Formats: sequence, structure tokens, C-alpha cells
Amino acid sequence: MDTVQLETMFANLYGNSETRVFFAPGRVNLIGEHTDYNGGYVLPCALSFGTTLILRKNKLNRIRLATTNFDFRADLPWAEIGDKVGNEWINYPLGVLLQFKQRGFNIGGVDMLFSGNIPNGAGLSSSASIEMVTAIAIDDLLDIKMDRVELIKLCRAAENQFVGMNCGIMDQFAVGMGHKNSALFLNCRSLEYKIIPMNIGGFSLVIANTNKRRELAASKYNERVSECSTALKVLRQVKPMADLTDMSIAEFSGLEYLFEDTTIFKRAKHVISENDRVLQAVSALSSGNLTLFGELMNQSHISLRDDYEVTGFELDSIVSAAWNTKGVLGARMTGAGFGGCSVNLVKDSVVQDFISNVASAYNSLTGLTAEFYNASLGDAAGKVD
Ligand code: GLA
Repeated sequence: MDTVQLETMFANLYGNSETRVFFAPGRVNLIGEHTDYNGGYVLPCALSFGTTLILRKNKLNRIRLATTNFDFRADLPWAEIGDKVGNEWINYPLGVLLQFKQRGFNIGGVDMLFSGNIPNGAGLSSSASIEMVTAIAIDDLLDIKMDRVELIKLCRAAENQFVGMNCGIMDQFAVGMGHKNSALFLNCRSLEYKIIPMNIGGFSLVIANTNKRRELAASKYNERVSECSTALKVLRQVKPMADLTDMSIAEFSGLEYLFEDTTIFKRAKHVISENDRVLQAVSALSSGNLTLFGELMNQSHISLRDDYEVTGFELDSIVSAAWNTKGVLGARMTGAGFGGCSVNLVKDSVVQDFISNVASAYNSLTGLTAEFYNASLGDAAGKVD
């Protein structure tokens, strides 16, 4: 829906009056998966698709929420905001509103209409996008002028504490700080970052959606987070450190004997090697070595498949179909895993062949129909004029 159609729908739902419009993108992560909550490096990009929000204050002291994406709507007293509502989409904005409340801001009444064009549950951060669009809109509506990084942290807190997903900061940061046609090289502990221009002339980033529903993703994700803290305890026997990513590959080598549980060893191995791959990938990208960049993407997938075990049959099928296609420099899963999307670095001239080859190979392996998107890289969340 375009903004004019949304304004009409807004007026039909809540009546006519002056509104403000905001947009927050989704994100695709190029490399650095499951490193963010381990204090490591990541390399995500903001996408040009995302979530639009139209809103205005109301005098009813009620929070009214609607979306063009789902039928479920809500109309709740501001005073009673505090509990999750089943597994509904409104938990993402509600979690953010609650964070403002807990910081002492009195929102009172607000009418909100959301509209997203990020494929749902695809691992392209539709949730961080809804959270950030809510946060920047409330910040503007109440003229709070909170620092952008504080808003990013507020959104992560909403997801951790309200939604119950112990995610790191990558998604909210990419959505809140991304730059057009660039990737964001972020240190998830210090939050220092660098904008890396995506000079990939002659190549395209193509996102392939497995259309496999992510089942139990939050609980499996939280299980990985806790396995990493177990691994950290094991490695602290030989090195005092704050996060798993404080250990280099060289230091880690030969330490397998410390682990009673091979699963925990493999989790640490993924995180430590993946963190190193991000550094290599950034220098490959900066020096224009796309072949090496692609090779690192492939290694990342293999590590997520064999050591971190978050890929699954569908993602492995779609990625191996890509690896078997000529003109593909690299392919890997992106996001949390357990279904969702892959990201592929494909020579421009073979993009159409890539799509038809991967679609048919994937379909014959899984019976599912994949979808493909050209990853056009957009800007961070902001107000729409
Ligand atoms: C999800 C989380 C992120 C990050 C990725 C995996 O997208 O929200 O914080 O951990 O998974 O890299």
C-alpha cells in the first residue's frame, strides 16, 4: 500500500486528522552470524523494503493498533500496557511502548497503523523493523530527542524483555543506522561501526526465501545463547575474558580437550571462526576481492550448518543449489536460521539463470516454492516527508 492509501485507511479506522509518517527498513546480514550476542563483529545491510507507520496522538488515553498485514487489531488503555498479548504482532510495538513507559514517558493515547512489505518470518528482521519504526515515531511525537543508539538499545530491550527473544543488537542497529548501498561493519560490544560501501559492480545480492516456516525459532535461538555462555565458562579456565569473541582462532586451537560436551565445543568453534571471517570479509570487500568474500560466505554457511547447527534441510538445500550454479561467488543462510532466507552473491549476467536453477533444484529437493528478491540496500529508519 502506498502512503495515500494508508492515509485513507487510517482515516477510516480512526477518523480524519493530522498524522505523521515513518519508515524503518528490514536488514540482510552478509556475514557474522550469531556473533552479536557474543560481543563480536557483524556485517549487515539495511534493505529498501520495511515497515511504514502512520500515527497521531489521541485524547482517549488508549493505544490503538492496526496493520495492513494481519487482521488482529487492538484498543488498550495506556495505563494497562504491561502484558504480552498471546503471540500477536502487536507485542513488538507494545514492548517498545512499555520501554518508554518504564523510562517515565507518558504516551497517553496514540493511534497507529502499520504496513510492512518484509516477508514475514523470513529472517529479514521484520520484528526489529516494527520496533524501530515505533521507537522513532514515539520519540518524534513526544519530542523526546533520544540519541539514536539509545533508541536502538531500547528496541533490543523490548525484544529481550517483552517478546522473550534473547537477541543481540545487530538487527536493531542495522535498521537504525544502515546506509544506502552500504554494509555496516559493527563491533557489537563497543558499538563502534564503519560504513562499508558495497562496491560490487557486475554482481548482485540476491535473497532467496525458503518459505520454510521458522518453528520454535525463539526457543532454539535462546538455547544457542545459553550454550555460548556455557562455552565461555569452559574457556575461562584458560583465559579470563568477557565474551567468546575475545579468543582468537590460534588461542582456541588445541583446547578441545577442555570440553566434556562436543556440542558446546562446536558452538564455540563457530563463534570464534565466524568472528574472524567477518574481519577477513571486510578487508576482502574493501580491496575488491569478491571471490574471497564469496568463499568466506560459503565457509560461514558450512560452519553454521556443521558446528552451530542452525541451518536445517531447507536452508542447506537452497544454499547447495546456489553453490552448484555457475556465476555464484558465495551463498549462505542469513539471520537466525532455522528456516528463512539465504543471501547470494551472483554475477549480474546469470541472475535469471540462478533464479530458475535454484528454484527448480530447491523445489525438487523439498517440495517447497522459493521466492527471490533483489536486495536493494536502503537507508536507516526515519521520518517520511
Ligand atoms: C537474529 C537476532 C540477531 C542475531 C542473528 C544471528 O536475527 O535477532 O541479534 O543474533 O539472529 O546472527
